[in-house]
Amino acid sequence: MEERIIGQVNRVNGPVIEAAGVSDAMMLELVRVGEVRLVGEIIKLAGDRAIIQVYEDTTGIAPGDNIFGSGSPLFVELGPGLIGTIYDGIQRPLERILKLSGNFIERGIRTPSLDREKKWLFRPAELAVGAEVSGGAVIGTVQETERVEQRILLPPDVKGTLKSLAVEGQYTVEETVALVETESGERGIAMMQRWPIRTPRPVAERLPVNRPLITGQRVIDTLFPVARGGAVAIPGGFGTGKTMIQHAIAKWCDAEIIVYIGCGERGNEMTDVLSEFPKLIDPRTGGSLMERTVLIANTSNMPVSAREASIYTGVTLAEYYRDQGFDVAVMADSTSRWAEALRELSGRMEEMPAEEGFPAYLPTRIAEFYERAGAMTTLAGQNGSVSIIGAVSPPGGDFSEPVTQHTKRFVRCFWALDRQLANARHYPAISWLESYSEYLDEVTPWWEQAVGSSWTSDRSEILELLHREVRLQQVVKLVGPDALPDSQRFIIEVCTLFKNAFLQQNAFDDIDRYSTAEKQTRMLQIILTYWRRGAEAIRRGMTLVRLRRMKVLQDIVKMKFTIDNEDLGALDKLAARLERSLDQLEAIYEE
Ligand SMILES: Nc1ncnc2c1ncn2[C@@H]1O[C@H](COP(=O)(O)OP(=O)(O)OP(=O)(O)O)[C@@H](O)[C@H]1O
Ligand SMILES: [Mg+2]
Repeated sequence: MEERIIGQVNRVNGPVIEAAGVSDAMMLELVRVGEVRLVGEIIKLAGDRAIIQVYEDTTGIAPGDNIFGSGSPLFVELGPGLIGTIYDGIQRPLERILKLSGNFIERGIRTPSLDREKKWLFRPAELAVGAEVSGGAVIGTVQETERVEQRILLPPDVKGTLKSLAVEGQYTVEETVALVETESGERGIAMMQRWPIRTPRPVAERLPVNRPLITGQRVIDTLFPVARGGAVAIPGGFGTGKTMIQHAIAKWCDAEIIVYIGCGERGNEMTDVLSEFPKLIDPRTGGSLMERTVLIANTSNMPVSAREASIYTGVTLAEYYRDQGFDVAVMADSTSRWAEALRELSGRMEEMPAEEGFPAYLPTRIAEFYERAGAMTTLAGQNGSVSIIGAVSPPGGDFSEPVTQHTKRFVRCFWALDRQLANARHYPAISWLESYSEYLDEVTPWWEQAVGSSWTSDRSEILELLHREVRLQQVVKLVGPDALPDSQRFIIEVCTLFKNAFLQQNAFDDIDRYSTAEKQTRMLQIILTYWRRGAEAIRRGMTLVRLRRMKVLQDIVKMKFTIDNEDLGALDKLAARLERSLDQLEAIYEE
C-alpha cells in the first residue's frame, strides 16, 4: 500500500498520540508512526489535529516524528490460511513474527496476515464465462484444512460480468483467479480480500434463529440453551470458571468454525489452547480440533489498544466464514478486559468519563459487538451464523457494575457464574437461579424433533424442582432436615442427585467433558424416573431411606463418567435397571 506523510507527532501519551499539521487523512485510517512505522489508527480528527491510537509500544516516539497514512481503514486479510493460525489483535501472525524477531515482537514489524508464498489448490466453481456475478458469489473452493473447505467469495462490492475464471491449480492468495468486467472497468479477483474490522460485512437478510448450538455442556444445552446465531454473556468473578467454559465450548460445540479471542487474559491460558487443541480429536470428524479454529491472542502483556481492536478482528474473521455458509462460534475472553482498554484509551484522550470511568459510548460499543451475532442469509443466498459467547469479569464478582449491566441488555442468554458453587467445586458453576435463556422457545422445536416431545416438559419439571429445593433448603436451615416430611426431603434428594449426576461436569474427564444431546436427554429422563416413581411410592407410604438404598443409584451418579456418548444402549439398560429396582421395592412394600 502506498504511504504518504499526513502529519507529525505533537504529543505522546502512552498508546495515544496527538498529531499536528494533519492534512489529507481520514477518520479510522490506518497509519504508521515514526521511523519504526508503528501501526496505529486515527480515532479523532479535528482541523489539522488528529488523535491516533497506536497498537504497539510507543517508547522512543517523539514530537516531530512523521506520521504516514495508508489510505485505508484498519482491515483484516481474508482468505485461505486463517484456520489453525494464531494472530494478535491486529491480525499479525504470532508464530511467524516470533520466528522473525525472536521472543519479543519487534516494533513496526511487517508480516502479512496471510502467507504470500504458500500455494493453495484452487478449484473453480461451475460458473460460465459471461455470467453476471455479484458480491458474495462463490467462485471456487480451497481445501483449507482436512475439515474446512473454504469457499472463495467475490468481495461484497464487486458486480459485473465474469470474463474469466482460473482453471484448477495451485495459486497464491494474491494471484488473480478471476476477472470481472465491472461498471468501473475490469477487476482482477484474488483469493484474498480485505475488510475493515469495524464495519460488519453485509448480508442479504437477518433470519430468526431456530437451532441450538449444542455445546456438549449439560447445564447449558438442557437448561439454558443458546441458539446458532445467538449472543451469550458469561459473567463470573475471579476464578469461577469462565475460561474453562469457553475452552470447553470451543472444543466440543457443534459449530463448524471457532474463533477464539483471548483478550487481555493471562498468556499461559493461550499457551494451553495452543498446546492442547491440536492434540484433541474432534468427535464428529476424527480430525484435530485446530482444523476448525482461529486464535486471536491479546494477552495481558500486549499493548492495550491492540486489545481494543482484537474483538473486531475476531468477529470479522467469523463473518467471513459465515458468508461462506458456515456456522461459526466466537469466544471472547474477556470482554471486561476489552472494556478496560476502552476506558484507558478514553482516559488518555481526556474524554468526559461516565459510570466508573468508562466512556459514555461503552454501551454503544458493546451493542455493536453483540449485534454482529446472528443467523443470516448470505449475499450468495446461503445460510450461515455467528454465535458470540463473551465472558465478563466483574470486579469483585459484582454483577451490578457497568460492563455486566450493559452486556445484559444486548444478549439474550446469560450464564451467571456463582461464587458459592465454584467454592464448592460445583463446575461449571452456572447458577440455575440467576441464569436464563431467551432462546428457549426458538430452539424447542429442534429439541423435540431430535430427542422427543417430552423434552420441554422434562426440562421444566427439573427446573421447577430446583426452585422448590431452594425454599426447602431455607426451611432446613431454620429447623433442620428432620422436620421435613419424606415427600419434601425427597425433593432435596433428587435435586442433589441432579446436581451431582447431571449439572456438574468435569472438563478434565475424557468421557464427561462433553455430552451429546441424546446422552443428556437420557440422563435427565433417568433422574426424572427416579423422581416421579419415587415421589409416587412415598405418597403410598414408602420411606425415603429405602428408596435411597437402591444400589442402582450409585451407578446413576457415575453414569456421566462411565457411559460413553455413543453407548446409548448402556443408558437404556441403566434406565431399565432403575425401573426394575423400583418394581422390586414396591413389590416388597406392598406385601
Ligand atoms: N468444568 C470444570 N471442570 C473441572 N474444573 C473446573 C471446571 N471449571 C473450572 N474448573 C476449575 O476452576 C479453575 C478456574 O477456572 P477458570 O480459569 O476457567 O476461571 P476464570 O473465571 O476464567 O478465572 P479468571 O477470573 O482468573 O479469568 C480451573 O483451573 C479449574 O481447576
Ligand atoms: Mg479466565
